[in-house]
Amino acid sequence: MRTVSDAQSLRAAVRAWKQEGKIVGFVPTLGNLHAGHYSLLDIARKRADRVVVSVFVNPTQFAAGEDFEKYPRTLEQDSAGLAERECDLLFAPEVETIYPFGAENSIRIHVPRITETLEGAHRPGHFDGVATVVAKLFALVAPDLAVFGQKDWQQLLVVKRLVRELAFPIEIIAAPTVREENGLALSSRNQYLNESERALAPQIHATLQWMREAILDGHPREAVETAAAHRLERAGFAPDHAAVRRAEDLSIPPDGEREGLIALIAAKLGSTRLIDNLVFDFDRP
Ligand code: PAJ
Repeated sequence: MRTVSDAQSLRAAVRAWKQEGKIVGFVPTLGNLHAGHYSLLDIARKRADRVVVSVFVNPTQFAAGEDFEKYPRTLEQDSAGLAERECDLLFAPEVETIYPFGAENSIRIHVPRITETLEGAHRPGHFDGVATVVAKLFALVAPDLAVFGQKDWQQLLVVKRLVRELAFPIEIIAAPTVREENGLALSSRNQYLNESERALAPQIHATLQWMREAILDGHPREAVETAAAHRLERAGFAPDHAAVRRAEDLSIPPDGEREGLIALIAAKLGSTRLIDNLVFDFDRP
C-alpha cells in the first residue's frame, strides 16, 4: 500500500491505473478505522480493481463545540489495518491540501431540503461540510465508484444528491451497517462510552426494532415516535429524535404507509451522541 498526502501524487497514481483500464474504488473516512470502515473497503475491493481510502478529519463538518479537536486521530494504526486488508492507496491529506484558502474561507456546497431535517436540523452546517469535502475528495480522487455506510443514512442521501446534481461520473454504493453482537452499531464515538453506558447503548438498536414492529403492526407514526423517545429516556438516554420517515427522502409518511420506511434515532448517552437507523423489511411476512 502506498500512502500519499498531496494531490499531485494521488492524481498520478489514479491516472496510471485508469490508463491500464483499472476500475478505481474509493472509501472516504475520518479515520480511527473499525470493522465498519473495513467492511466498506471489502465491498470496494469486490467491485473495483484498485481501492483508495482517505483519512481526513474534516474541520468544516464539525460545528463549534463539537468533538473536532478530540476526534481520535490514529493514522499509524489505520495505515497498518488498511495495508493488512490490501488497500492500494491511503490518501491522508493535510487541511491545507483540501482547503487551500483555509477552512473558514472555503467554498461551501449546500444541498437543500434533505439537510434541513433530523441530523441537519440538530447540527446546522454539518451536511454543508460533508457535501463540500466529499465533492473535493471526488474531484481529487476521481474514482469510478465510492462506498458509503447506511449507518449515516442522511449523509448517504446527501452524497447521492450531490453526485447527481454535480454530474460526478461516480457510482455510489450503500453498505450495510456493521454491528456488535448486541446490536450496537460500530462507531469511532463508541470509545467515549464508559462501562455502564456501553451496557445501555444496544438499547438504541432494540428501540429501532421495536419501532419497526409497532409501525408494521399498524400503530400511528407519532405515537410510535413518542413512545420510542420515552423508552430511550427511561433507559437513561437524552434522545434528539426517534423518527419514522420515508427512506428515499426522509419525508414524513402518512399513517398506514408501510413500504420503504426507515426508523432513525439520535440520542445522547452521557456526553456521547450516538446515531443509528433501521430500514424496514419491505416484505415482512
Ligand atoms: P466516518 O464517520 O469515518 O465514516 C466513514 C464511512 O464509514 C461512512 O460512509 C460511514 O457511513 C461508514 N460507517 C461508519 N460506521 C459504520 C458501520 N458501523 N457500518 C458500516 N459503515 C459504517 O462519515 C464520515 O466519516 C464523514 O462524514 C465522511 C463521509 C468521510 C466525510 O468527511
